[in-house]
Amino acid sequence: MSGEVAAAIGTNWGDEGKGKVVNYLARMKGFGYLARGTGGNNAGHTFWYEGKEYKFNLMPCDPFGGKPLALGRCMVIDPNVLYQEVTRVLEKTGNYPDLRIDGSASIIMDWHKVRDVLMTKGIGTTGRGIGPCYEDRRNRLNDITYYDLHDDERFESRVADVHEYQKKFIEAFGGSIEPPRKITEKLAATRSLFRRYKPADISLEIRDVLKEGKNVLLEGAQGFHLSVDHGTRPYVTSSEPGILGLLSGVGLGPHDVKTIIGVTKAYTTRVGEGPMPTLQGQEFNEIIRGDKRGSEYGATTGRPRRSGWLDLPMLRHAVRKNNITDIAMTKVDVLDNFHELKVCTGYLIDGDLHEEPPSDPALLGSVTPVYKPMKGWGKLDWKSVVSSGNLPKELKDYIGFVEDDTGVDVSILSCGPEPEMTIERYAII
Ligand code: IMP
Ligand code: MG
Repeated sequence: MSGEVAAAIGTNWGDEGKGKVVNYLARMKGFGYLARGTGGNNAGHTFWYEGKEYKFNLMPCDPFGGKPLALGRCMVIDPNVLYQEVTRVLEKTGNYPDLRIDGSASIIMDWHKVRDVLMTKGIGTTGRGIGPCYEDRRNRLNDITYYDLHDDERFESRVADVHEYQKKFIEAFGGSIEPPRKITEKLAATRSLFRRYKPADISLEIRDVLKEGKNVLLEGAQGFHLSVDHGTRPYVTSSEPGILGLLSGVGLGPHDVKTIIGVTKAYTTRVGEGPMPTLQGQEFNEIIRGDKRGSEYGATTGRPRRSGWLDLPMLRHAVRKNNITDIAMTKVDVLDNFHELKVCTGYLIDGDLHEEPPSDPALLGSVTPVYKPMKGWGKLDWKSVVSSGNLPKELKDYIGFVEDDTGVDVSILSCGPEPEMTIERYAII
């Protein structure tokens, strides 16, 4: 029997807890192959392992499990960051991770980081060179792929080819760039590690894994509203974090995926610039961060995340355009700090009620959110909630409200950062 594909994507602006959900699924359920398809080390994916917190930026979120970990063709890969992650896995487990790196993935070079800082002011990017690397990929002539990086001659010749373009570009914006030889020399040690990882074709690998009857888990990065095509432009990333981007990133078609999990926090956060309709003030932040469980700082940059109430227009939009089949709601435990909760059920724009974010991003900053108040569930002993599966009425009402509104089951409830603190209400695979 053929294996199945499940995917987890973020429904908001990233930081929904995909790392935790993917780590839970990877370790507790039968997935034989984990893959990312988009983004790069702008992502910060957090999970717990043996009582400790870990953050990874590139590898799929079960790096110590020994399973194949794939980096798909639509990713942008910073070799220095990947080197560090490989080293961390080696130190922790004594083994090199079983990495599969698609030869067609693009490589982030230092010049991309310089350009990110010089040219994308005002969007609040992570400064990791993500946007400029995707620009070069789209422009077709000036990117370096993992195929190039892997082969000494090819790499030197590519760096020499594109250097003049990068130099002109950067100097025009008042920056500077090292000579080609220096750039290749600096990457020599890093590149030698990658000799052990021959460029792969992730699409074919997945086909073979499925034929063997193993299940495949795809890990989205960022969130749907950071999509370059569907998000809150221009305050977005430069990849497509929705399901279509993720499938394209691993070389699968729309009918190859059976389960599309929309990971959504029980409230909303956003890091970086851009409008956020349900944003609340300092008091909300203090309650969320009150006992550290809801400590909201960007996993990649450490910047404080802005926070606010659950935003159904955003969720509906993500559900509709991604065919989400299951919702994973994370951090429900953090909301037990509130006596009363609110859920945004629509936006008013010039007196008209909108059920989804307006297509014109310029309008999003001035919408008036409409809220439904709901009763909070108060302090709970979450360990016994998880072990008994008994949810208090108020929490059931909160979940039920989201399910009725979106027409999608909240199949996974995450009640704490550790993988054990998860309730699978409906089987995912
Ligand atoms: P870039 O992806 O570095 O170009 O940043 C573009 C925008 O996306 C900025 O607002 C970032 O803060 C945001 N962003 C990118 N990746 C993530 C993520 O994984 N979580 C949250 N925000 C992100
Ligand atoms: Mg994150």
